[in-house]
Amino acid sequence: MDKTKVAATKNITSLSQETRVFPPSKEFSKRAHIRSMSEYRKLYNESIKSPEKFWAKQAKNEVVWFAPWKKVLQWKAPHAKWFVGGKLNVSYNCLDKHLNTPTANKAALIWEGEPASPGRAGEERVFTYKQLHREVCLFANVLKRNGIKKGDRIIIYLPMIPEAAIAMLACTRIGAIHSVVFGGFSAQSVADRVFDCQAKMVITSDGGFRRGSIVPLKKNVDEALAIKDAQGVSLTKTIEKVIVVRRANNDIHIEEGRDVWWHRELEYVNANCPAEKMDSEAPLFILYTSGSTGKPKGILHTTGGYLLGAKMTSKYVFDLQETDVYWCTADIGWVTGHSYVVYGPLANGATSLMYEGAPNFPEPDRFWRIIEKYGVTILYTAPTAIRAFMKWGVEWPKKHNLTSLRLLGSVGEPINPEAWIWYHEVIGGKRCPIVDTWWQTETGGIMISPLPGATPTKPGTATLPFFGIVPEVVDDQGKAVPKNCGGKLVIRKPWPNMLRGIWGDPKRFVETYWSEVKGSYFTGDGCRQDKDGYFWIVGRIDDVLNVAGHRIGTAEVESAMVSNLKVAEAAAVGRPDELKGQALVVFVTLKTGVQASQSLREELRNHVGKEIGAVAKPDDIRFAEALPKTRSGKIMRRLLKQIASGIEIKGDTTTLEDLSVLAKLSSSDE
Ligand code: WT7
Repeated sequence: MDKTKVAATKNITSLSQETRVFPPSKEFSKRAHIRSMSEYRKLYNESIKSPEKFWAKQAKNEVVWFAPWKKVLQWKAPHAKWFVGGKLNVSYNCLDKHLNTPTANKAALIWEGEPASPGRAGEERVFTYKQLHREVCLFANVLKRNGIKKGDRIIIYLPMIPEAAIAMLACTRIGAIHSVVFGGFSAQSVADRVFDCQAKMVITSDGGFRRGSIVPLKKNVDEALAIKDAQGVSLTKTIEKVIVVRRANNDIHIEEGRDVWWHRELEYVNANCPAEKMDSEAPLFILYTSGSTGKPKGILHTTGGYLLGAKMTSKYVFDLQETDVYWCTADIGWVTGHSYVVYGPLANGATSLMYEGAPNFPEPDRFWRIIEKYGVTILYTAPTAIRAFMKWGVEWPKKHNLTSLRLLGSVGEPINPEAWIWYHEVIGGKRCPIVDTWWQTETGGIMISPLPGATPTKPGTATLPFFGIVPEVVDDQGKAVPKNCGGKLVIRKPWPNMLRGIWGDPKRFVETYWSEVKGSYFTGDGCRQDKDGYFWIVGRIDDVLNVAGHRIGTAEVESAMVSNLKVAEAAAVGRPDELKGQALVVFVTLKTGVQASQSLREELRNHVGKEIGAVAKPDDIRFAEALPKTRSGKIMRRLLKQIASGIEIKGDTTTLEDLSVLAKLSSSDE
C-alpha cells in the first residue's frame, strides 16, 4: 500500500499512519464538563456560526467585569480588539473573586522546592486563595512604593518559586506589564529584553536551584545591567530598581539605591491594594519567543480576551473539577506557565501545583514522588520529558502509587505514538484520557485539543479545534487542501486570546503572521487533516525537508525512528545534497544499555523505511549521547543542521540547556 499522499501543489508529504482510537471511558464522560461529541459539536457550531454572541455569553459567565464592554469584537485585519470598552482586572479574577466563597480557604498554590535527598520529598509551601491574595496585595504595594505605575514594563527573572506567580499577579493588579524571562537565559538575553521593552524594573532572586547546583540569577542581572552598546551607552539604562528574592542564600552584590530585598520591602507596606480597573485591551504581558532564527519577538497579549481564553481552555480541556490537584510542569518563563500554571487554573479556583526543579533530581522518580505525595489528579507535561522518563526506565514510576491521576496532558511538539502509548499505559494506568494540546505563545491558549470527556483520541494528533477556533490546512495559494493532504496550518478567524502584536515592531507582526496567507493567521506549522477531520501537526514549516522532491515532516521521521525499541530519542535534519536537494540525517540517542554499531545503523534505516516508506530512509544516522535542546525542550535543529553539514556552529547558543552536548556531537562521528 502506498502510504504517501502528496497534495496537488508543492505541499507537505504526510506519512504517518496511526489507526488506534481511544474513546473516553463512560465514567470519565459522566462527570465531565463536556460529555459527548454531540455536546461538543453543538457548542462548537454555535461558536462558529455566531461568534460574537457565543463569546459575549462566555465573557459574561466566566469573567468579572467592573464595567461592561460596548462592542464584542472590532476586527480590522490583522488587528483585533475584544470586549471593547470593558473594564476588568486579571488578579481580581484570579484572587478576589474567590474570597467570599468556599474557595477562599482552598489551596491555590502548592509549591515544592527542588533540594531533597534520595528517597525524600522537598520543602513545601502552600498558599490558600486568601493567603495568596494577601501576598499579591502586599507585593503590589511594594511595586508602587518603588515607583511602578500603570503601563510600566517589569522583567521577572526568577526560578520556579511562589514569588514568581505573586510578582506576575501583582503586576496585573496595578496594570504594570510583565515580561517573564526564563531563568535559564543568559545576562545578554536579559539585557536584550530590558532594552527591547524599555523596562523600569527587574525582579530576580539571589539564585535558583537546578539539579542540585545554584544558578546565579542576581549575578546575571548585574552583568546584564552593565552591558553597553557599541557606542558605549548602557543597554539597560531604563532600569531604576531591582527587587531581589532571597532563595538560595548565595552571596550577592547589592547596589545601594538600586537593589532592594523583597522581604525587607514587605516591612514597609500594608495589604490594602484595590485592583486597578483595566481596559479590556490594556497590555497584560509581553513574552519573548525566539523562533529558530533572528531576534526574539516580544509577543503582546492583552487583558480581557487573554483571561477569557486561559480560563475557558483550562476549564474544558483539563476538565477542572472542585477536588482536582492540577500540575502543569512548565516553567513560568514559557507561555504554558503563564496560561496553565498561573492565570487559567487560578481564574477557575483550582489548586495549581508548582515544582521548582528538574524531573531527575535527586533521582529520576521525582515527578512520581510528587504525584504520590500530593495526590495529583491532572498532569500536563511535554513529550520531551516523557521520552526522558521512558529512557530512564519504568522502574521509577513503578515505585510510586499514581492512581490519583485521572487526566494527562501533552504540549510543546507532536507527541510520537510510542511516547503516547507509554504515557497512557505506564503513567495513566490505561485509565486516563490524554489531551494532546496544540497551541503557541502567539495564540495565548490551547487551540486544538481533545475535550477529555468527549473526543475519541488517536496517538499523535491534537484532534479537533477548541470553541471559536477555525483552523484550516491550505496550499501555497491559501486554498484549503483535501483531507489527508499536507499543507500549512492557518487560523481563519480572530479569537479572544490571540496575540495583539510584536512589541515595538508592527511591521514584523504583519510580515510574520499575516502575509503568508491573506486574511488568515499563519501558524508556521505543517499539518494534515485526516478523514475524521483530526489535525496532525507535522512540525514547523522551516523544519520540513525536501528529499528528492518529497517534503517530509521531521516529526514523522523522528516518530518512526523512536518506534524502534532500541531508540530513546531522534532528531531529523536535512543536509544539502547534490542529487536529492536534501539528504536526510538523523541523530539518534539509544536506550540505556544498547550499543551503537554499523549493523544497528542499517537496522534503523530499514526500520524507518518500513514504517513510512523508502523516501524517508535516512541517508545518514549518527549516534549521540544527547541532543542539543533549549531549556523548553525543543531540539535545536539549526545546530544539528550545521553539524550534519560539517560546518562550524554559528549564531546564538545561549538558549542551549547543556553546552557540552555540542562538543560531543561534533566529535561523535566515529
Ligand atoms: C510550537 C509553539 C504551546 C505552548 C508551548 C510551546 C509546537 C506545540 C504542539 C502539539 C504538535 C506542537 C508547534 C507550535 N507544538 N504544541 N500538541 N502538537 N506541535 O509554545 O514555543 O510558542 O511553540 O510548538 O510547532 O507552533 P511555543
